[in-house]
Amino acid sequence: MSNRIFNFSAGPAMLPTEVLEKSAVALVDYQGKGFGIAEVSHRGKEFEAVNDEAMTLCKKLLGLGDTHDVLFLQGGATMLFTTIAMNFLHGSADYLVSGEWSKKAAGAAKDLGKANVVGTTEASNFDHSTPTAEWKLNEGADYFHVCSNETVHGHRLPAWPKHPNLIVDASSEFMSRPHPVGDCALVYGGAQKNLGPAGVVLTIVRKDMYAKQKKVPSKLWSFKDQAEGRSMVNTPPTFGIYILLEVFRWLDAKGGLAAMEKINETKAKAIYDAIDASNGFYKGTVSVKEQRSRMNVTYTLPSEELTEEFIKTASKAGMVGLKGYRTVGGIRASIYNAMPVEGAQALATFMKDFASKKS
Ligand SMILES: Cc1ncc(COP(=O)(O)O)c(C=O)c1O
Repeated sequence: MSNRIFNFSAGPAMLPTEVLEKSAVALVDYQGKGFGIAEVSHRGKEFEAVNDEAMTLCKKLLGLGDTHDVLFLQGGATMLFTTIAMNFLHGSADYLVSGEWSKKAAGAAKDLGKANVVGTTEASNFDHSTPTAEWKLNEGADYFHVCSNETVHGHRLPAWPKHPNLIVDASSEFMSRPHPVGDCALVYGGAQKNLGPAGVVLTIVRKDMYAKQKKVPSKLWSFKDQAEGRSMVNTPPTFGIYILLEVFRWLDAKGGLAAMEKINETKAKAIYDAIDASNGFYKGTVSVKEQRSRMNVTYTLPSEELTEEFIKTASKAGMVGLKGYRTVGGIRASIYNAMPVEGAQALATFMKDFASKKS
């Protein structure tokens, strides 16, 4: 395998090396058959088996029973939050606006109907999300949409809320810890952070939601039709789904989501400890510590110049993808499932060295 460095990109992001190696083989010669998995019909037995195993393993990892369907959709998470409003927004829906992504989701809903913002922290540049006690939920809302991990701002909902029709954008933390997906109406996530390459959106739908769908212009946007067609209303992103399957196998072999959560806690702690022990050289951008994301660690340095130097020097030391999102600035270290503990530790050590030289 060629040289692999620590890639802290927010997404598309690092994938486990074993997954990439197995997928690379399957791309060229699938199970010794002389053709690649991306070169066969999605209706053929090879891909059917991949699709089936991916759905089954996904349910196993999430502890899901027969109440929910697993869909592999296209168009990114942006298409999903738009499709959700197209299908389920009748009167009005509730949205927690806690960052760039949930704001965009609420915006898409506002284009199609009435979206009630139950709380927003935009005034403080989304440095945290509105505490639960302050949410202004509407009793008759069609659903309640939250983003469980705000990729740009580096905070998460420590626990997913309870609501009869909860819809969660879990893009940047999907399968990084156990989630109560079985209690949700719909959960979705673009694969390109924790689960696979861009082009697949893992979507879990509670079956009773189909009866609440509005008429949409095409079966492509109908969750019910996609479920009936096993996500094959049209040609699915077959190779992306194959990589997803390899990621599910990898997660299963690691001991599932509870085991993954422990590893992710260790990684996040290493970096947050480096921030907190720096005597203010590094400042976490999240104002409520309990909300600190375990996936996207965001912090600033004393100046733009130092930030640039930090990024350049880190890159020379084999750590890339650290530049913060433009509206937040500073550093964002994304440490999704595929980032090894050594990667987070290497960054923490680098941070300590850099701070001791520059402060
Ligand atoms: C939490 C979250 N939701 C939605 C999106 C949008 O994803 P896509 O570009 O796949 O539409 C992103 C992308 O970074 C994200 O982080």
